[in-house]
Amino acid sequence: MSIEQSKNSILWEKLHQNLEKTGSHTQYPHEILVRWISINSMLKGSKVLDIGFGSGRNLEMLEKKGYEPYGIEVSPTAIKYAKKISRNFKLANFNPPKIDFPDKYFSLVISMQALYYNLDIEEVMSEIFRVMKDNAYVYVSFYGRNHWWIKTHSKKISSTFIKWAETNPAKTERGLKLRYFDTKRKYLNLFRLFKNIEVNKYSYDLFGNHYEYVFVIAQKIEGADMSRERNKIKERFKSFYLKQ
Ligand SMILES: C[S@@+](CC[C@H](N)C(=O)[O-])C[C@H]1O[C@@H](n2cnc3c(N)ncnc32)[C@H](O)[C@@H]1O
Repeated sequence: MSIEQSKNSILWEKLHQNLEKTGSHTQYPHEILVRWISINSMLKGSKVLDIGFGSGRNLEMLEKKGYEPYGIEVSPTAIKYAKKISRNFKLANFNPPKIDFPDKYFSLVISMQALYYNLDIEEVMSEIFRVMKDNAYVYVSFYGRNHWWIKTHSKKISSTFIKWAETNPAKTERGLKLRYFDTKRKYLNLFRLFKNIEVNKYSYDLFGNHYEYVFVIAQKIEGADMSRERNKIKERFKSFYLKQ
């Protein structure tokens, strides 16, 4: 692990220790993930991995939905906290970029606002690909280029790296480097091992600030063309909304 990478892990451990003190853990699962999961019921009962699960909010929802929940974290304190949420969580330490699971193990891998802390994110992507079963899904969220934090509190240092400025409201993250992608083409390149790649945007305004996220959903497809299966899922989405 590089010095910068271990500095990042230490910062996050501190942040999680602080969350313990203040009891300010994030409670509710990610809204768009909930929508996606409620329709993609074909994956029920299968193994899901959450990379950088934080306070475990998404794992909790996934367990309720019938998934077998696995998670990896760089912060031992986060692991300790999430273990109290459910005995069924199978949690382990994450030493990037290695994902310590066998090949073709998971049917779904998610990572919400966490993967970009890996400066060598490309290596983590190939590890994700390795641990995914054929036809499995990956779901990763990133900061969008119009997110107010990105616009006002970051310095661009190259075409795919930024550094949080000293003005960043999250004190513990000040000066931290992260991966950032400003075009769809760069996301497509990052996910080039995968097929059926969707680069979606999600934004809202709150208290006068603009929040924007990019979430990429893709599939590991080896051999057979799965476009027919993908169309079936799209149809399921359509009929779900027509019923409401
Ligand atoms: C913004 S929080 C998001 C937590 C959780 N995914 C969620 O949606 O609530 C970022 C999380 O990424 C974890 N993290 C830090 N460095 C990481 C890395 N290199 N790879 C993956 N996760 C990392 C942190 O410990 C933290 O829990």
